[in-house]
Amino acid sequence: MSAQPLIVGLGGTTRVGSTTERALRIALSRAEALGARTRLFTSIDLNLPHFDPNTAERGPQEIALVEALRQADGVIIATPSYHGSISGMVKNALDYTEDLRRDARPYLESRAVGCIVCAEGPQAMGATLAALRAIVHALRGWPTPYGAVVNTGGPAFDAGPQGPDPAVVQQLELVAAQVIEFARMRDALAARAG
Ligand SMILES: Cc1cc2nc3c(=O)[nH]c(=O)nc-3n(C[C@H](O)[C@H](O)[C@H](O)COP(=O)(O)O)c2cc1C
Repeated sequence: MSAQPLIVGLGGTTRVGSTTERALRIALSRAEALGARTRLFTSIDLNLPHFDPNTAERGPQEIALVEALRQADGVIIATPSYHGSISGMVKNALDYTEDLRRDARPYLESRAVGCIVCAEGPQAMGATLAALRAIVHALRGWPTPYGAVVNTGGPAFDAGPQGPDPAVVQQLELVAAQVIEFARMRDALAARAG
């Protein structure tokens, strides 16, 4: 890892500037403030064909995503809650990690993964966060201890002239900080092991 960990942010919805995208951008800004390099994949970047394990043919968008995840030192995923779980678009993007299965570091192994959920109700927030964490476990990633849930039914991002609700920003920034802390711990361990 270079002195500046690479944090890949993945999420949002098909709508440019969605609340989920805004949440992800806040987390990535914090990661940059903490010294990370970042790559963002959102809206049109994630409008990918259904992942097809029967072919190795991939378009430029899919290759860009897979390559970024291959290089990532940490990942932040932001999903809306759609019908009580993560959205199909975000799940489809994550299915492309299958192209990393034969890597020395398969899927999201050794990486912390920050989980962010936007929903309009507490039941969907909890269910979706649990679902996202289960997916991260399946991908051999380390979900961060703190997962951010944003109730977009309220004024989370439009709390007034001061901008987003500070309590929401604090949650998102904590997720970013934990992803970076883990990346730096892994790096220090690797350096000690020589
Ligand atoms: C297809 C669809 C399904 C949804 N299902 C739920 C749901 O089950 N529970 C919930 O609280 N919100 C649900 N929502 C609301 C979204 O989770 C919420 O609007 C979220 O903030 C995504 O907004 P965004 O597009 O601005 O990121 C749903 C929205 C859509 C479009």
